[in-house]
Amino acid sequence: MTAAAAASKGPKLLGEDVAGTLLAWYSEHCRDLPWRISPADLAKGARPDPYRVWLSEIMLQQTTVEAVKPYFRKFVRQWPDVAALAAATDEDIMKAWAGLGYYTRARNLKKCASRVAALPGRLFPDNEAGLRDLPGVGPYTAAAIAAIAFDRPAAVVDANVERVVARLFAVRTPLPEAKAEIRARLARLVPGKRPGDFAQAMMDLGATVCTPRRPRCSNCPIRETCAAIRDGDPELLPVRAAKAEKPQRRGAAFVAVRGDGAVLLRRRAERGLLGGMTEVPTTTWQAKTSPARPCPP
Ligand code: ADE
Repeated sequence: MTAAAAASKGPKLLGEDVAGTLLAWYSEHCRDLPWRISPADLAKGARPDPYRVWLSEIMLQQTTVEAVKPYFRKFVRQWPDVAALAAATDEDIMKAWAGLGYYTRARNLKKCASRVAALPGRLFPDNEAGLRDLPGVGPYTAAAIAAIAFDRPAAVVDANVERVVARLFAVRTPLPEAKAEIRARLARLVPGKRPGDFAQAMMDLGATVCTPRRPRCSNCPIRETCAAIRDGDPELLPVRAAKAEKPQRRGAAFVAVRGDGAVLLRRRAERGLLGGMTEVPTTTWQAKTSPARPCPP
Protein backbone atom coordinates (compact mmCIF):
# COMPACT_ATOMS: atom_id res chain seq x y z
CA MET A 1 0.00 0.00 0.00
CA THR A 2 1.33 3.44 -0.84
CA ALA A 3 1.71 6.04 1.90
CA ALA A 4 -1.09 8.07 0.28
CA ALA A 5 -3.40 5.06 0.35
CA ALA A 6 -2.49 4.43 4.00
CA ALA A 7 -3.24 8.07 4.81
CA SER A 8 -6.64 7.93 3.20
CA LYS A 9 -7.58 4.68 4.98
CA GLY A 10 -6.27 4.87 8.52
CA PRO A 11 -7.92 6.65 11.43
CA LYS A 12 -7.00 10.32 11.76
CA LEU A 13 -4.94 11.34 14.76
CA LEU A 14 -5.66 14.68 16.34
CA GLY A 15 -3.99 16.90 18.95
CA GLU A 16 -2.83 14.80 21.89
CA ASP A 17 -2.91 11.70 19.69
CA VAL A 18 -0.34 13.14 17.31
CA ALA A 19 1.91 13.97 20.26
CA GLY A 20 1.34 10.57 21.88
CA THR A 21 2.09 8.72 18.67
CA LEU A 22 5.19 10.79 18.05
CA LEU A 23 6.42 10.29 21.61
CA ALA A 24 6.01 6.52 21.30
CA TRP A 25 7.98 6.62 18.04
CA TYR A 26 10.69 8.79 19.64
CA SER A 27 11.07 6.41 22.59
CA GLU A 28 12.00 3.71 20.09
CA HIS A 29 13.81 5.64 17.34
CA CYS A 30 15.43 8.70 18.94
CA ARG A 31 18.92 9.56 17.78
CA ASP A 32 21.77 8.94 20.22
CA LEU A 33 23.27 12.44 20.59
CA PRO A 34 26.01 13.38 23.08
CA TRP A 35 23.94 16.18 24.63
CA ARG A 36 20.72 14.20 24.82
CA ILE A 37 19.17 12.21 27.67
CA SER A 38 17.22 9.35 26.08
CA PRO A 39 13.64 8.61 27.15
CA ALA A 40 14.92 5.36 28.69
CA ASP A 41 17.43 7.23 30.86
CA LEU A 42 14.84 9.90 31.75
CA ALA A 43 12.57 7.09 32.91
CA LYS A 44 15.43 5.89 35.17
CA GLY A 45 15.64 9.35 36.74
CA ALA A 46 18.46 10.97 34.70
CA ARG A 47 17.91 14.68 34.09
CA PRO A 48 19.29 16.96 31.36
CA ASP A 49 22.09 19.33 32.39
CA PRO A 50 20.96 22.84 31.31
CA TYR A 51 24.62 23.77 30.66
CA ARG A 52 25.01 20.96 28.13
CA VAL A 53 21.62 21.72 26.57
CA TRP A 54 22.50 25.42 26.24
CA LEU A 55 25.96 24.67 24.83
CA SER A 56 24.56 22.23 22.26
CA GLU A 57 21.81 24.61 21.16
CA ILE A 58 24.28 27.45 20.64
CA MET A 59 26.53 25.15 18.61
CA LEU A 60 23.58 23.81 16.59
CA GLN A 61 22.56 27.31 15.43
CA GLN A 62 23.42 27.34 11.69
CA THR A 63 25.42 24.10 12.02
CA THR A 64 24.63 20.43 11.42
CA VAL A 65 24.36 17.81 14.15
CA GLU A 66 27.28 15.83 12.66
CA ALA A 67 29.55 18.90 12.60
CA VAL A 68 28.66 19.82 16.18
CA LYS A 69 29.27 16.41 17.83
CA PRO A 70 33.11 16.54 18.09
CA TYR A 71 33.08 20.20 19.16
CA PHE A 72 30.51 19.50 21.84
CA ARG A 73 32.56 16.60 23.21
CA LYS A 74 35.73 18.70 23.21
CA PHE A 75 34.04 21.62 25.01
CA VAL A 76 32.47 19.54 27.79
CA ARG A 77 35.75 17.69 28.32
CA GLN A 78 37.65 20.97 28.60
CA TRP A 79 34.92 22.95 30.41
CA PRO A 80 32.54 20.53 32.17
CA ASP A 81 30.29 23.20 33.69
CA VAL A 82 29.26 26.81 33.32
CA ALA A 83 31.71 28.04 35.99
CA ALA A 84 34.62 26.42 34.16
CA LEU A 85 33.58 28.04 30.88
CA ALA A 86 33.12 31.42 32.57
CA ALA A 87 36.70 31.17 33.85
CA ALA A 88 38.15 30.30 30.42
CA THR A 89 39.97 32.92 28.37
CA ASP A 90 38.37 34.29 25.20
CA GLU A 91 41.42 33.09 23.36
CA ASP A 92 41.05 29.47 24.52
CA ILE A 93 37.33 29.48 23.67
CA MET A 94 37.99 30.91 20.20
CA LYS A 95 40.71 28.32 19.65
CA ALA A 96 38.38 25.45 20.65
CA TRP A 97 35.60 26.93 18.45
CA ALA A 98 37.83 27.37 15.38
CA GLY A 99 36.25 25.69 12.35
CA LEU A 100 32.66 25.79 13.64
CA GLY A 101 31.96 29.19 12.03
CA TYR A 102 29.70 32.12 12.96
CA TYR A 103 32.20 33.29 15.55
CA THR A 104 29.88 35.77 17.27
CA ARG A 105 28.41 32.67 18.91
CA ALA A 106 31.77 31.84 20.51
CA ARG A 107 32.18 35.38 21.85
CA ASN A 108 28.66 35.30 23.32
CA LEU A 109 29.39 31.91 24.88
CA LYS A 110 31.83 33.38 27.40
CA LYS A 111 29.54 36.39 28.07
CA CYS A 112 26.58 34.11 28.71
CA ALA A 113 28.58 31.68 30.87
CA SER A 114 29.85 34.61 33.00
CA ARG A 115 26.30 35.93 33.41
CA VAL A 116 24.95 32.53 34.49
CA ALA A 117 27.95 31.82 36.75
CA ALA A 118 27.06 35.05 38.62
CA LEU A 119 23.41 33.99 39.17
CA PRO A 120 22.32 32.39 42.47
CA GLY A 121 23.37 28.75 42.46
CA ARG A 122 24.97 29.29 39.02
CA LEU A 123 21.66 28.13 37.61
CA PHE A 124 20.33 28.85 34.14
CA PRO A 125 16.90 30.56 34.11
CA ASP A 126 14.28 27.81 33.80
CA ASN A 127 11.82 29.62 31.50
CA GLU A 128 11.79 31.11 28.01
CA ALA A 129 11.64 34.78 29.10
CA GLY A 130 14.59 34.44 31.48
CA LEU A 131 16.62 32.49 28.94
CA ARG A 132 15.95 35.08 26.23
CA ASP A 133 17.70 37.71 28.37
CA LEU A 134 21.01 35.85 28.09
CA PRO A 135 23.64 36.90 25.53
CA GLY A 136 23.39 34.89 22.30
CA VAL A 137 20.04 33.30 23.23
CA GLY A 138 17.28 34.26 20.78
CA PRO A 139 13.63 33.16 20.78
CA TYR A 140 14.32 29.80 19.10
CA THR A 141 17.19 28.87 21.41
CA ALA A 142 15.26 29.99 24.50
CA ALA A 143 12.32 27.79 23.49
CA ALA A 144 14.61 24.81 22.79
CA ILE A 145 16.43 25.10 26.14
CA ALA A 146 13.18 25.66 28.06
CA ALA A 147 11.67 22.53 26.49
CA ILE A 148 14.68 20.22 26.53
CA ALA A 149 16.37 21.23 29.80
CA PHE A 150 13.29 22.16 31.84
CA ASP A 151 10.45 20.24 30.16
CA ARG A 152 8.50 23.45 29.50
CA PRO A 153 5.70 23.22 26.91
CA ALA A 154 7.45 25.54 24.42
CA ALA A 155 6.85 25.51 20.66
CA VAL A 156 10.31 24.81 19.23
CA VAL A 157 10.38 25.58 15.51
CA ASP A 158 13.61 25.00 13.61
CA ALA A 159 13.80 24.33 9.86
CA ASN A 160 13.16 20.59 10.33
CA VAL A 161 10.11 21.21 12.48
CA GLU A 162 8.85 23.89 10.10
CA ARG A 163 8.89 21.31 7.32
CA VAL A 164 7.10 18.64 9.39
CA VAL A 165 4.33 21.04 10.43
CA ALA A 166 3.94 22.54 6.95
CA ARG A 167 3.42 19.02 5.58
CA LEU A 168 1.28 17.72 8.43
CA PHE A 169 -1.24 20.54 7.89
CA ALA A 170 -0.52 21.16 4.17
CA VAL A 171 0.37 24.79 4.88
CA ARG A 172 0.72 26.23 1.38
CA THR A 173 1.42 29.84 2.32
CA PRO A 174 5.05 30.47 1.35
CA LEU A 175 7.74 30.87 3.99
CA PRO A 176 8.60 33.17 5.66
CA GLU A 177 4.99 34.43 5.67
CA ALA A 178 3.81 31.03 6.95
CA LYS A 179 6.00 31.13 10.09
CA ALA A 180 3.30 32.48 12.43
CA GLU A 181 0.77 29.90 11.24
CA ILE A 182 3.26 27.05 11.59
CA ARG A 183 4.20 28.15 15.08
CA ALA A 184 0.55 28.43 16.14
CA ARG A 185 -0.26 25.00 14.72
CA LEU A 186 2.72 23.45 16.48
CA ALA A 187 1.84 25.18 19.78
CA ARG A 188 -1.53 23.39 19.71
CA LEU A 189 0.21 20.02 19.36
CA VAL A 190 2.69 20.44 22.25
CA PRO A 191 1.66 17.98 24.97
CA GLY A 192 1.52 18.72 28.69
CA LYS A 193 3.55 15.56 29.39
CA ARG A 194 7.09 15.16 27.99
CA PRO A 195 7.18 18.44 26.02
CA GLY A 196 10.99 18.23 25.93
CA ASP A 197 10.89 14.81 24.29
CA PHE A 198 8.15 16.07 21.95
CA ALA A 199 10.39 18.95 20.78
CA GLN A 200 13.22 16.52 20.10
CA ALA A 201 10.88 13.99 18.47
CA MET A 202 9.79 16.67 15.97
CA MET A 203 13.44 17.49 15.26
CA ASP A 204 14.31 13.83 14.76
CA LEU A 205 11.28 13.17 12.56
CA GLY A 206 12.30 16.10 10.34
CA ALA A 207 15.94 15.02 10.23
CA THR A 208 15.43 11.30 9.58
CA VAL A 209 11.96 10.69 8.06
CA CYS A 210 10.30 13.91 6.92
CA THR A 211 13.39 14.96 4.97
CA PRO A 212 13.42 17.81 2.41
CA ARG A 213 13.78 15.38 -0.51
CA ARG A 214 12.47 11.82 -0.79
CA PRO A 215 10.69 11.81 2.59
CA ARG A 216 10.25 8.29 3.98
CA CYS A 217 6.50 8.65 4.37
CA SER A 218 5.86 4.93 4.72
CA ASN A 219 8.05 4.97 7.88
CA CYS A 220 6.32 8.01 9.35
CA PRO A 221 4.44 7.43 12.62
CA ILE A 222 1.95 10.24 11.87
CA ARG A 223 1.37 9.49 8.18
CA GLU A 224 -2.32 8.84 8.82
CA THR A 225 -2.75 12.45 9.85
CA CYS A 226 -0.52 14.04 7.24
CA ALA A 227 -2.45 16.37 4.91
CA ALA A 228 0.45 16.56 2.46
CA ILE A 229 0.44 12.74 2.06
CA ARG A 230 -3.33 12.88 1.59
CA ASP A 231 -2.79 15.52 -1.13
CA GLY A 232 0.03 13.47 -2.66
CA ASP A 233 2.72 16.14 -2.61
CA PRO A 234 4.75 16.18 0.63
CA GLU A 235 7.95 16.92 -1.25
CA LEU A 236 6.52 20.20 -2.56
CA LEU A 237 6.14 21.56 0.98
CA PRO A 238 7.05 23.89 2.54
CA VAL A 239 6.68 26.49 -0.19
CA ARG A 240 9.35 29.17 -0.08
CA ALA A 241 9.00 32.68 -1.45
CA ALA A 242 11.56 33.43 -4.17
CA LYS A 243 14.62 35.01 -2.61
CA ALA A 244 15.45 38.58 -3.56
CA GLU A 245 18.56 38.63 -5.68
CA LYS A 246 21.61 39.43 -3.58
CA PRO A 247 23.46 42.56 -4.70
CA GLN A 248 27.01 41.86 -5.79
CA ARG A 249 29.69 44.01 -4.25
CA ARG A 250 33.35 44.08 -5.05
CA GLY A 251 36.46 45.25 -3.31
CA ALA A 252 40.20 44.80 -3.46
CA ALA A 253 42.27 42.81 -0.99
CA PHE A 254 45.95 43.62 -0.50
CA VAL A 255 48.44 40.89 0.32
CA ALA A 256 51.64 42.47 1.59
CA VAL A 257 54.49 40.04 2.23
CA ARG A 258 57.61 41.21 4.03
CA GLY A 259 61.06 40.05 3.02
CA ASP A 260 61.12 37.52 5.87
CA GLY A 261 57.81 36.00 4.71
CA ALA A 262 55.52 37.69 7.31
CA VAL A 263 52.09 38.63 5.90
CA LEU A 264 50.37 41.88 6.90
CA LEU A 265 47.11 41.06 8.70
CA ARG A 266 44.54 43.03 10.65
CA ARG A 267 41.63 42.23 12.91
CA ARG A 268 38.09 42.97 11.74
CA ALA A 269 35.71 45.03 13.89
CA GLU A 270 34.07 43.03 16.70
CA ARG A 271 30.57 43.61 15.33
CA GLY A 272 29.25 42.69 11.90
CA LEU A 273 30.25 40.15 9.28
CA LEU A 274 33.10 37.86 10.41
CA GLY A 275 33.45 40.06 13.51
CA GLY A 276 36.82 39.79 15.25
CA MET A 277 38.36 37.61 12.54
CA THR A 278 41.80 38.16 11.05
CA GLU A 279 42.04 39.33 7.43
CA VAL A 280 44.35 40.92 4.91
CA PRO A 281 43.58 44.64 4.47
CA THR A 282 40.85 45.43 1.96
CA THR A 283 39.08 48.42 0.46
CA THR A 284 35.40 48.87 1.30
CA TRP A 285 32.98 46.69 -0.70
CA GLN A 286 30.96 48.56 -3.32
CA ALA A 287 28.45 47.86 -6.08
CA LYS A 288 30.72 49.60 -8.56
CA THR A 289 34.45 49.22 -8.90
CA SER A 290 36.97 51.11 -10.92
CA PRO A 291 38.61 48.97 -13.58
CA ALA A 292 41.56 46.96 -12.35
CA ARG A 293 44.93 48.59 -12.86
CA PRO A 294 48.18 46.70 -12.64
CA CYS A 295 50.07 47.22 -9.40
CA PRO A 296 53.19 49.34 -9.71
CA PRO A 297 56.35 47.24 -9.50
N1 ADE B 1 18.85 20.98 16.18
C1 ADE B 1 18.76 22.00 17.04
N2 ADE B 1 18.66 21.56 18.30
C2 ADE B 1 18.71 20.22 18.25
C3 ADE B 1 18.67 19.20 19.21
N3 ADE B 1 18.58 19.49 20.50
N4 ADE B 1 18.73 17.93 18.79
C4 ADE B 1 18.83 17.65 17.49
N5 ADE B 1 18.88 18.57 16.52
C5 ADE B 1 18.82 19.84 16.90
